[in-house]
Amino acid sequence: MRISFCAQTDPAPWLAALRQHLPQAQVDVWHSGAARADYAMVWAPPQQFFDEQTALRAVFNMGAGVDALLQRQIRPELPIVRLNDAGMGVQMAEYVCHALIRHTRDFALFEAQAQQGLWQEPPVLDRTDFPVGILGLGVLGEQVARAVQHFGFPVLGWSRTERRLDGVRCLHGQAQFAEFLAGTRVLVNLLPLTPQTENLLDRATLSQLRPGAYLINIARGRHVVDEDLLALLDSGQMAGATLDVFRTEPLLAEHPYWRHPRVTVTPHIAGRTVLQDTVLQIAAKISALRKSEPIEGLVDRARGY
Ligand code: NAP
Ligand code: GLV
Repeated sequence: MRISFCAQTDPAPWLAALRQHLPQAQVDVWHSGAARADYAMVWAPPQQFFDEQTALRAVFNMGAGVDALLQRQIRPELPIVRLNDAGMGVQMAEYVCHALIRHTRDFALFEAQAQQGLWQEPPVLDRTDFPVGILGLGVLGEQVARAVQHFGFPVLGWSRTERRLDGVRCLHGQAQFAEFLAGTRVLVNLLPLTPQTENLLDRATLSQLRPGAYLINIARGRHVVDEDLLALLDSGQMAGATLDVFRTEPLLAEHPYWRHPRVTVTPHIAGRTVLQDTVLQIAAKISALRKSEPIEGLVDRARGY
């Protein structure tokens, strides 16, 4: 069995871990003209990779989102497998709880006050006044919902098909989108980027959130219409945003998000790919596929995720 590795990262530790968990495999870094492999582990590979690697039996994406991969021409019968959590869920939960609590408990204000030696106490937080709406109740959205629930915030969720999560007001489909938005004050985006979800967070949808809404976007930059978000922040209709993902990454130096007083920017780090968890998961899935056993995380190309 031959495995091809194609990602813009130092391959050495990945190859070592793959060889440890699949000792029978020949694992190589892909280069043009490389021998044809049976399986591939990739992040943002060039089209040439698929043009040349015509014997693949499955391709493993080194992340949860497959939007970039689905831009490539890949033969329709080749299974594409995304990461299921693989250590990202706990990071996403940490990130969202941090942004949520920083906002609701006024930590940015205290940092500013401390600079001036100012001792001022705000009113006690009524967390029922900050319902958290999670767009996407998949592998990561569900874990974020659980973590937020732990802090006593009311939680709503929105998905494509019907979901049931204890203690979460689960809504789904276009028909229930307005109800979801109207009940949400802190919006967390964990949707995959698909033709149906691109530009979903525009003026029309963000305006339906409760007044003083806060956005936490940890999915993809192309979900948000930046000009609309900035206009709603500037008008005071929205209170702020914590953004991890952007249309162009790295975020351009001149982008207004960098200097906006109520926007926090992070460099796409909400859920990092964890080497050991990722290699263990992919190695287990390759072993399962070789025994014709079912695996989780097969991408449905028609759905786009
Ligand atoms: P997932 O398990 O596939 O879950 C996706 C969720 O979105 C599902 O609940 C799905 O509904 C819902 N959904 C999809 N299309 C929808 C639509 N048109 N309308 C309403 N709901 C829709 O994905 P995941 O593993 O949780 O990952 C989510 C995304 O997080 C990834 O696609 C990626 O873009 C992003 N991500 C970002 C980082 C980062 O570092 N910032 C790291 C990892 C992942 P159903 O339940 O009905 O299928
Ligand atoms: C990262 O953004 C991922 O999709 O895993």
